[in-house]
Amino acid sequence: MEVNIKFYKGENIPLELHKTRIVQKLNLVPIERRLKALEEGGFNTFRLTTHDVFLDMLTDSGTNAMSDRQQAAMMHADDAYAGSQSFMRMAKAVEDVLKKKYLLPVHQGRAAENILANAYIKKKGDLIPMNYHFTTALAHITQYGGRIVELLYDEAYNIASSHPFKGNLNVEKLEEVILETGVENIPFIRMEASTNLIGGQPFSVANMRAVRKVADKYGIRVVLDASLLGENAYLVIQREPEFASATMGEVIAAMTGLADIVYFSARKLSSSRGGGICTNDLKIYRELEALIPLFEGFLTYGGMSVREIEAIAVGLYETLDESMICQSPQFISYLVNSLVAQGVPMVTPAGVLGAHVDAMKMCGHIPQTLYPAGALAAAFYLVSGVRGMERGTMSNQRDEDGRETYADMELLRLAVPRRVFTLSQIKYVIDRMAWLNENRHMIGGLRFTYEPQVLRFFMGGLEPVSDWPQKLLAKFRADFGDSL
Ligand code: F0G
Repeated sequence: MEVNIKFYKGENIPLELHKTRIVQKLNLVPIERRLKALEEGGFNTFRLTTHDVFLDMLTDSGTNAMSDRQQAAMMHADDAYAGSQSFMRMAKAVEDVLKKKYLLPVHQGRAAENILANAYIKKKGDLIPMNYHFTTALAHITQYGGRIVELLYDEAYNIASSHPFKGNLNVEKLEEVILETGVENIPFIRMEASTNLIGGQPFSVANMRAVRKVADKYGIRVVLDASLLGENAYLVIQREPEFASATMGEVIAAMTGLADIVYFSARKLSSSRGGGICTNDLKIYRELEALIPLFEGFLTYGGMSVREIEAIAVGLYETLDESMICQSPQFISYLVNSLVAQGVPMVTPAGVLGAHVDAMKMCGHIPQTLYPAGALAAAFYLVSGVRGMERGTMSNQRDEDGRETYADMELLRLAVPRRVFTLSQIKYVIDRMAWLNENRHMIGGLRFTYEPQVLRFFMGGLEPVSDWPQKLLAKFRADFGDSL
């Protein structure tokens, strides 16, 4: 179903195609409490508790709104260790929507990454070419001794761009890498839908066809990370002329049909928990099968509750509904375009998952050694109570010799989970970010006081390098009086 709503005065207002029937009360605590909360949480937004958070824009993972139908399905779940009917319904949904016959359930997306890395990275130095890494995918590949190479086109690194498919994998370079590295050292090629870390940017079906062609030429498997597949498909309909009148189902099938293995975090794709790996190749299924009971749980629950499994099944069918999937990208587009109009440097074109602020530009006075995106995340929480996520150098891991690896982009991600926020809340975000942008020179850097070795951004602790947070608080009070 195409979603095309025009307004009389020509304004571009994203319209909610759902109504709210269950609500959760939010807290907006005063800025003084927010500063204390930052101090208690090591200036890391992951370590804030939701009591202190007004709008939680940390992630869409597990926080998309569930539909009434998903909730209803959860009530008729079939509790059984083996052979649960809930699993049968999920497997049927995977077959109907993702067009893959064999399903291996896992407790979330990174569990799928662990299983694939365990099964296919057989020797140190094995190389996984990909459009771009995701934090957990990289961590699992390196954990098993593998390496990655990122093969985006140059345009993808151009933050303010109008390129419709910045997530495209550079197929010319792919072929060069294969020839240099040797097919025997490349267990698979990984394509990530709506490439998360470069700002939720999609790839085109034409690009994936080209990747498939190279893969076939050299006999290499293609693995599709489908966690953000619905949104990638929606943007293909919007941006790739060949698919302008296609349905969501047709685009999704075109993309999954080009992959040998599809895996997903159901926390993003269709529900709020869980995940899966699926394929049409019985040989692949057999290669992975034994690892599920070892790491996840029996083959018909994979570490998920049957209630979650029911919600995934319904959610997968709902992914075919363009009027559902379009809500988050349309809100993101409104947020990005409004911030650009106010002079805030943003990743463009607007992608999926969230709006991404270019911290390298906005905080150009903070060197990468002092984590500009992390500092911006802390500063924005301080002045708004809105929690975003650092997606920059802090989210990178150190190299084998313990040296810092600087991110290509320093981004503050403001996630817009599906059907969660109202337009007035989005307008509040725009207002506070515009104010912070005018006062950006007051933001200072951060340094680690506690740096975990693996995925340090989750629980790491930091401190400001000066008393900039106190000064920013004083400026806020001067400009906003006693406002929350
Ligand atoms: N792949 C992609 C593209 C993701 O965005 C995520 C998670 C995963 C895999 C891992 O899935 O969390 O279920 O284990 N992304 C979340 C985020 C965490 O906030 O972007 P998971």
